[in-house]
Amino acid sequence: MLVSMKSILADAVKGGYAVGGFNCASLESAMGAIRASEELGIPFILQHAPAHEEFIPLSVAGPIMIQLARAAKTPVAVHLDHGGSIEICLRALAMGFTSVMFDGSALPYEENMKQTAFVVKTAHALGATVEAELGSMPHNFRGELKEYTPEDFYTKPEEAAQFVETTGVDALAISFGTVHGVYKTTPKLSFKVIEDVRKSTGELPLVMHGGSGLSADDYHEAISKGIRKINYYTYGALAGGKGVYDIVKKTPEGLQFHDVSTYVTGVIADDVKRVMKLFKAD
Ligand code: 13P
Repeated sequence: MLVSMKSILADAVKGGYAVGGFNCASLESAMGAIRASEELGIPFILQHAPAHEEFIPLSVAGPIMIQLARAAKTPVAVHLDHGGSIEICLRALAMGFTSVMFDGSALPYEENMKQTAFVVKTAHALGATVEAELGSMPHNFRGELKEYTPEDFYTKPEEAAQFVETTGVDALAISFGTVHGVYKTTPKLSFKVIEDVRKSTGELPLVMHGGSGLSADDYHEAISKGIRKINYYTYGALAGGKGVYDIVKKTPEGLQFHDVSTYVTGVIADDVKRVMKLFKAD
């Protein structure tokens, strides 16, 4: 059933666990995540990222995601990930998304706060939830990340309290050493940043981006410090890619595309189930 992200996150706060936010860049990834959720009985957040417009545009993905969430046996929120402008957030809300992320992390602090507050006011009037971002995150989608200092990207805890209070945001993405995409080296995470932001923002759900590719210990430590939503994509996509290789190797002749699609949906569902269990466990 289609629900608000706020209700799913409120349960996570109460239960002291994290909810997965899974990006769907294809029908297989969306259906795989829904299947995982139904098989485990665990609610989740189905997301569209504008970075995936070239694979499946919002105009196509949006109505499908909403329909899949409505038909699901488990609670599913439909969320716009990394909305880089007010306009795209409004487009998603008009389509019926129950949540949007306004990502003003590249803007000067005051401007990020001002634009986030506007999105919050509009989304709340429609009963939708808003995630914002403070501190920026590097990415390594296609190996473009060179030498960098993780500390330069960390969220400043002293800014977080004012940001949350002024904007009225429902969830806050913070930067503490994770990276979008593939990890070139073992990530250098600062759990102290999570702890300090939490001290200044109370029970507000904190969000981890770049959430695929970490160890079970890292997930559990981050959750114990206050992370309540984990955005997960790249390593699930890699699992799907390996699934294609395996099915092609297994059936070198006469393989039809729907066989590939069905097999990969199952592989993605298994990977989502694996991490859903990790995010929920103590
Ligand atoms: P990964 O692709 O690194 O898992 O990050 C997902 C994410 O943060 C989407 O916003």
